[in-house]
Amino acid sequence: MLQLKDNDYEKMPGHWVLARMGKTVLRPGGIELSKKMITNLHITDRDKVAEFAPGLGITARLALENNPFAYTGIEQDPEAARRVGLYLNGVNQKCSVANSEETGLENQSTTIVYGEAMLTMQSNKLKNKIIGESHRILEPGGKYGIHEMCLIPDNISEDMKKEIQKDLSSVIRVNARPLTISEWKEILEQNDFSILKVETAPMHLLNIQRLIEDEGVKGTLKLGYNILSTPKARARVLDMKSIFRKYSKYLGAVSIVAQKNV
Ligand SMILES: C[S@@+](CC[C@H](N)C(=O)[O-])C[C@H]1O[C@@H](n2cnc3c(N)ncnc32)[C@H](O)[C@@H]1O
Repeated sequence: MLQLKDNDYEKMPGHWVLARMGKTVLRPGGIELSKKMITNLHITDRDKVAEFAPGLGITARLALENNPFAYTGIEQDPEAARRVGLYLNGVNQKCSVANSEETGLENQSTTIVYGEAMLTMQSNKLKNKIIGESHRILEPGGKYGIHEMCLIPDNISEDMKKEIQKDLSSVIRVNARPLTISEWKEILEQNDFSILKVETAPMHLLNIQRLIEDEGVKGTLKLGYNILSTPKARARVLDMKSIFRKYSKYLGAVSIVAQKNV
């Protein structure tokens, strides 16, 4: 999907349209919320870390700054996995092309698992499967970090929830099923995790200030130029931006760090 020969901007998932235009940070709370999640995971040189859906490897680099004993990325897109591989040079570092619901990793072979902007796009059944897989591969007491889109407030009406999910899925061209913060906590607890830390940020993925924070001034200018000079991609970006703006009152980003019960 990320490969250069595929130019079908009409049908491409929104995150790959943005990535093709030069966006590297593809999660709702931006790099700052990722940094908070990594801090809250307290990665040390004894940790065996697995990252679900590393995308372009930006958070992988943050995690690797803590010199974990091992790092394994689990990414379903081959080109994205190849790009993550470019950041990996230690003996215990790799990125596999695989699905997070079936990683192929041994039971209890990791101490920390995290994933960003990847559960939101799954059905409830698959969300549970992926969280269950992280539970299976974690040691008891191991930590699981997520960073996802959320709906606010907790008591948002079912009708509004459905309307947002429908409009988001239509502009992003992938299933978009964000949960409220209470629901995110609940789904983790139902899978035998205890909540350690919850952090939030506004859902400002395409706001100019966030773009500069995430991509830098040069990166933002390059992104702007690419979008302006690619009409089909520009139409998609404008559609996404208008839906994010329409529902800005109801959309947020949340990072939760939870612990596998002992
Ligand atoms: C919105 S991007 C987020 C990428 C990165 N985590 C970030 O925050 O910048 C979604 C990523 O999830 C990957 N993905 C989606 N479902 C997956 C699954 N079931 N297993 C592994 N990767 C998955 C996609 O290939 C893509 O890289």
